[in-house]
Amino acid sequence: MTLPVSRRPGADAVPALRWGVLGTGWIAEQFCGALHPHTSQRVAAVGSRSPESAQRAAARLGAESAYGSYAELVAAPEVDVVYVATPHPMHVDNALLAIEAGKHVLVEKPFAVNAEQGRRLAEAAEAAGVFCAEAMWTVFLPKFDVIRQLLDDGALGELTTVVADMGEWFDPGHRIFDPGLAGGAMLDLGTYPVTLATWAFGDATLQTVTGAGTRSGSGVMGQFSAGLDFGGGRLASLSASIEADLPTRATIAGSRGRLDIDRHFYRPGSFTLVRRDGSQERYTEEAVAHAGLFHEALEVARCIGEGLAQTPLRPLAATVDTLSVMDAIRATHGDEFACE
Ligand SMILES: NC(=O)c1ccc[n+]([C@@H]2O[C@H](COP(=O)([O-])OP(=O)(O)OC[C@H]3O[C@@H](n4cnc5c(N)ncnc54)[C@H](OP(=O)(O)O)[C@@H]3O)[C@@H](O)[C@H]2O)c1
Repeated sequence: MTLPVSRRPGADAVPALRWGVLGTGWIAEQFCGALHPHTSQRVAAVGSRSPESAQRAAARLGAESAYGSYAELVAAPEVDVVYVATPHPMHVDNALLAIEAGKHVLVEKPFAVNAEQGRRLAEAAEAAGVFCAEAMWTVFLPKFDVIRQLLDDGALGELTTVVADMGEWFDPGHRIFDPGLAGGAMLDLGTYPVTLATWAFGDATLQTVTGAGTRSGSGVMGQFSAGLDFGGGRLASLSASIEADLPTRATIAGSRGRLDIDRHFYRPGSFTLVRRDGSQERYTEEAVAHAGLFHEALEVARCIGEGLAQTPLRPLAATVDTLSVMDAIRATHGDEFACE
């Protein structure tokens, strides 16, 4: 048996949208850097909190125009879709700004800091009739379309288990240590293992969760480890850390086999299908890291081109469900954000 082939669209199969990039930090630069060489998507404009940084960012990110406020960016007539790339606590307000201006919006992960805020944003987008999605880039990657087909085709049988971790070190000045920006291991990192489990188990509902967490010196969550029961014999063991450089691998297992997804499981890369009889299939692709961000932009362009308000690859209900699982893990050890 050979592995399925990815069904993700090619760059020429979708309309070329004019993107407005709201916030000009690290991920904005990665996103624009991925669009330019791989797609015909245009970075039409950037919006920053000051005119000076907007001008600098436009040159750096290859944008056609620059706006010194987010309000001006979302109002710009040359912008079709706004990409929100600010720190987590600002996502909801920044996305609402775009929605109220009648713009489609792609919101960096995590969509919001908790499920309640995420639900509010999803409802606003649905009421306005604009396209809205969380930029959970993992689920838009070709590798994950191949995995989706294997799961749907029953290659693993009945799913039983997801094991995933994500951990890395950051410079001491990184915003991830800032309690005022909802820092800590959950929203930047934990969102990936939690998304993997909820994505793999589909419509399963979290039944119970046990967990433990520790605090870093700045007071944010340094790490967590959680055991989750999604019912129907489906368990997940998930962890994330900013205190240790964890393997960042994942396994999805079932009654007929398992998938071992290699380090940096959430990025482009490789995995192995191991069947119950011991036979194996290997999926490989170049591990291009954040250059793979362009796939999420292509999916947004495909959906907008087809008049869809959501992507079936990451419906807003799935995003809110992931946030509610993250809320439940945080509640096991009393983790709260100042902005909640
Ligand atoms: N998909 C991924 O792989 C990935 C990777 C990293 C981060 N992210 C997500 O992207 C978001 C941004 O992360 P980042 O690493 O790009 O952050 P960053 O480098 O700190 O950039 C954030 C940008 O947001 C704007 N901003 C608005 N209010 C701010 C405030 N109070 N403090 C700091 N910046 C503020 C700033 O742009 P202006 O000054 O131009 O207004 C800043 O450059 C996060 O939610 C994160 O989870 C996703």
